[in-house]
Amino acid sequence: MTPDLFAAGPSPAERAAELRAQLHHHAHRYYTLDDPEIPDAEYDRLFRELQNIEAAHPGLLTSDSPTQRVGGRVLDAFSPVRHRVPMLSINTETDTEPSGARNFDTRVRRALGLTEADAPVDYVAELKFDGLAMSLRYEAGVLVQAATRGDGEVGEEVTTNVRTIQQVPLRLPADAPPVLEVRGEVYMRRDDFDALNDKQRAKIAAGAKGEKTFVNPRNAAAGAVRQLDSGIAAQRPLSFFAYGLGEITPPDQGGPAFETHFELLMQLKAWGFPVAEQTVLCSGADALVAYHQRIGASRDQLPYDIDGVVYKVNSLALQRQLGFVTREPRWAVAHKYPAQEQLTTVLAIDVQVGRTGKLTP
Ligand code: IVH
Repeated sequence: MTPDLFAAGPSPAERAAELRAQLHHHAHRYYTLDDPEIPDAEYDRLFRELQNIEAAHPGLLTSDSPTQRVGGRVLDAFSPVRHRVPMLSINTETDTEPSGARNFDTRVRRALGLTEADAPVDYVAELKFDGLAMSLRYEAGVLVQAATRGDGEVGEEVTTNVRTIQQVPLRLPADAPPVLEVRGEVYMRRDDFDALNDKQRAKIAAGAKGEKTFVNPRNAAAGAVRQLDSGIAAQRPLSFFAYGLGEITPPDQGGPAFETHFELLMQLKAWGFPVAEQTVLCSGADALVAYHQRIGASRDQLPYDIDGVVYKVNSLALQRQLGFVTREPRWAVAHKYPAQEQLTTVLAIDVQVGRTGKLTP
């Protein structure tokens, strides 16, 4: 054996593992916590060092390596994935006034057999993100599968594309359970959407064929997730918010025993998933009404689109007691805001004639 005195530093395998851990840490600081510890150039240097090691030693490449976020694989079609726990939809409160929140609380209290003398029910109030639902499956702490909702029973496997989303952890801390499915929303921020459309317009102006601009962030996000060419998907900046669970290792097999929805969201946050800071506990109907009002008033200041808020009964025991009606849980409701997209009439279009005769509206 080589005496330690002459040891040539870590082996490529050790160095690759060390770099991955560092890059995971710094990417989380940068993309999820918005609080980087090192300059971008230093991150790039570590990233390139890892890329070089992996290029020289292909056997060291792992699916959870940060270098795998760049995409590249081109598919003919997406494979179907049967969800082990169905991805449900959510009942919508049609009364878009803040007072609509009371209808939900009334239904919940009635179903639980509560009278006015009983204490208020605790809820979690969340934003209703306007993107597309995603199920992320982790086994032994590593992201192994990302699937769209599809019809709720069977979705499409979009793992390579979802790996390009920097806010989606590729690997979880050691205290994560052996099986964990995180449910949440893939979306595109408004500034990323505007930058993407600027880029698309530049390509179209340069004569690129088959390029188009996107109607809204949700369409752009859906298009990116369903891109068969993951190299293109990687160039469409997507973000992610976690809001629930699918399958998880049960407590009697070493999984966590959550008692409330809020507790599980905070655990997801601790494992590295983005959870919106507007996610709050609300006790009783008045707090829900106030939440709907407060979020409605600040909606335009959010960096992404929402189409409402969601209320969920906080106690998981009460959720079980409430159960489902058809495919919708009785313990949750979406409370919308009046639509922002409106029909409008085009009154006139000015057309400029360029020097070469090209017409530009
Ligand atoms: S919970 C059992 N929470 O809204 C409830 N959904 O019809 C399952 N959505 O397609 C969903 N924000 O993609 C939940 N904070 C949130 C949400 C949310 C957006 C979407 C979701 C789903 C639809 C529900």
